[in-house]
Amino acid sequence: AQSAFSTRSCRYGAEALREAALLIRAGEPVAVPTETVYGLAADATDSSAVAAIYSAKGRPSFNPLIVHVADRDMAQRLADFSPVAQKLADRFWPGPLTLVLPVRADSGLSPLVMAGLPTVALRLPAHPAMRALIRESGCPLAAPSANRSGSISPTRAEHVLASLNGKIRMILDEGPTSEGLESTIAAPEADRVRLLRPGPVTAVMLAEATGLPVMIGGDTKIEAPGQLESHYAPSKPVRLDALRAEKDEYLIGFGLMPCHINLSPEADLHEAAANLFAALHIADASATPRIAVAPIPMEGIGAAINDRLKRAAA
Ligand code: TXA
Ligand code: MG
Repeated sequence: AQSAFSTRSCRYGAEALREAALLIRAGEPVAVPTETVYGLAADATDSSAVAAIYSAKGRPSFNPLIVHVADRDMAQRLADFSPVAQKLADRFWPGPLTLVLPVRADSGLSPLVMAGLPTVALRLPAHPAMRALIRESGCPLAAPSANRSGSISPTRAEHVLASLNGKIRMILDEGPTSEGLESTIAAPEADRVRLLRPGPVTAVMLAEATGLPVMIGGDTKIEAPGQLESHYAPSKPVRLDALRAEKDEYLIGFGLMPCHINLSPEADLHEAAANLFAALHIADASATPRIAVAPIPMEGIGAAINDRLKRAAA
């Protein structure tokens, strides 16, 4: 591979933040935690910086990126907010909800970010490291998950290093992420909300906040390629709804049961979401040739956990 960098993982703090912002302003992508997963961030107004994200991830460039903002003013300079969009932002920002909105003609965003769509996916994250980096860099940050395209998403700095070592210059390490699953992606319309990717903000929460029906999945065409069938995929076969391990399986459990690693012995779905990707990383690195996962209830964030598991098994 051409031009390998050495990747430095730096504990988050004032000095590391300044350094990261210098790299961003120089057009380099930097890995940074959010409350969902670690993101690979670059200046969303600079096409060569955005191209560097695609090449570090090995991501197809028809797949658009989420743009992260530090506050509502910044968001409103990039996209048009309908009354329904305002309602959702009021209720869930800052937090793990991404809104797909009409992009403004004067947004200044690189067209590569939208990959040709008339809309932009915007998110105001709750994590202080991501927000501080946006402020310090002075630009909105495009950031997909900080892993090679199609592989398991990173919820710790070590996951980023294992996946992108030599491809990026710097990782801001602020420990494990609290949510553990990528943000919910929703497209607000006048009379309904389309749920493009399930996540920590559930369909029920979207319906309650807007008083509108929520359409799951939207239309059949792929609008959020997180929806591509195989995604978040370990290198080994994955069997779902397993009640016990076969001889050559590494079992990821849920609730009280014999298993190799447990997402939540107390059967707490939020804890299970936070632990899911780390457990998949460990199972993938184990000596066992196959992975099995216990059944996870569909309620609440369980829908998003099952969505990621289905794709991991596809
Ligand atoms: O939690 C998250 O959302 C993380 C952290 C880093 O913020 N980011 C993340 O980004 O998951 P990424 O690039 O892995 O997922 C972005 C998803 C993709 O499935 C993409 O297709 C969809 O957002 N997307 C981006 N722009 C879109 C648009 N205009 N319309 C529909 N989907 C869009
Ligand atoms: Mg991803």
